[in-house]
Amino acid sequence: MSTTAIRIEDVNKIYKSSGGREVQALTHINLDVQKSEFISIIGPSGCGKSTLLRILANLDTPSSGSIQWETSADHIGFVFQDATLLPWKTVYQNVMFPLEVKKMATKENIANLDKLLELAGLKGFEKAYPRELSGGMRQRVSIVRALSYNPDVLLMDEPFGALDALTRDKMGIELLRIWNETKKTILFVTHSISEAAFLSDRVIVMSPRPGKIDEIIDIDLPRPREVDVKETAEFGSYVKKLREVLG
Ligand SMILES: Nc1ncnc2c1ncn2[C@@H]1O[C@H](COP(=O)(O)OP(=O)(O)OP(=O)(O)O)[C@@H](O)[C@H]1O
Ligand SMILES: [Mg+2]
Repeated sequence: MSTTAIRIEDVNKIYKSSGGREVQALTHINLDVQKSEFISIIGPSGCGKSTLLRILANLDTPSSGSIQWETSADHIGFVFQDATLLPWKTVYQNVMFPLEVKKMATKENIANLDKLLELAGLKGFEKAYPRELSGGMRQRVSIVRALSYNPDVLLMDEPFGALDALTRDKMGIELLRIWNETKKTILFVTHSISEAAFLSDRVIVMSPRPGKIDEIIDIDLPRPREVDVKETAEFGSYVKKLREVLG
């Protein structure tokens, strides 16, 4: 049985640009996100994916419509496209930072952090500085940081965008493993059709001007998923379908 984590109701967003011109970034966005669901959002540049995530994270407000949280809206982790780590802090200091800021550095959270570092394959790198890590490792640190205070919901805006194809595949598998162990609700923005199909329970396909949901596609592939699922005919037909919807 599934329960709703977030209810997005008729959300519209109009930006007023400096010249007075209006941009309808989002129009009539309706979506119920289920608890522990993995949702990908895909669509061409400018269709409002980041805007939607920013509104969910309370970094921006909708022009109309509403977001109803069935979980605490404080419990959101945000992973930005660039790892945005603090360069003067070590891996451990970086992932501890939100706990300190939120005054949540409890024994339990610190123990959980160690488990997350292990899960993310970062054990032994706690004392390294971001400049001493590969791009993929930095990205994993930022994922651990977003998970550090045990948020119910993880918002990820093209988190693997800057990675090479191989690292990207590995990160996807690691993310699925973390998701499987922690049962987070994940909203994941990507430009990769195959990544969306591989990771998700549902893929939200958006179209621009005005940014709206074109179609929602259920991905009924068995879990847990291994990379070889990508070789199957079923996977191929999901990719084909997504490509068609994206035009
Ligand atoms: N702060 C802002 N002020 C004015 N317009 C904005 C602002 N942020 C976004 N927009 C406009 O809203 C639309 C959607 O932008 P958004 O960043 O959400 O797109 P996106 O789907 O994330 O694109 P991309 O795939 O390139 O990251 C664009 O037309 C953009 O110009
Ligand atoms: Mg964006």
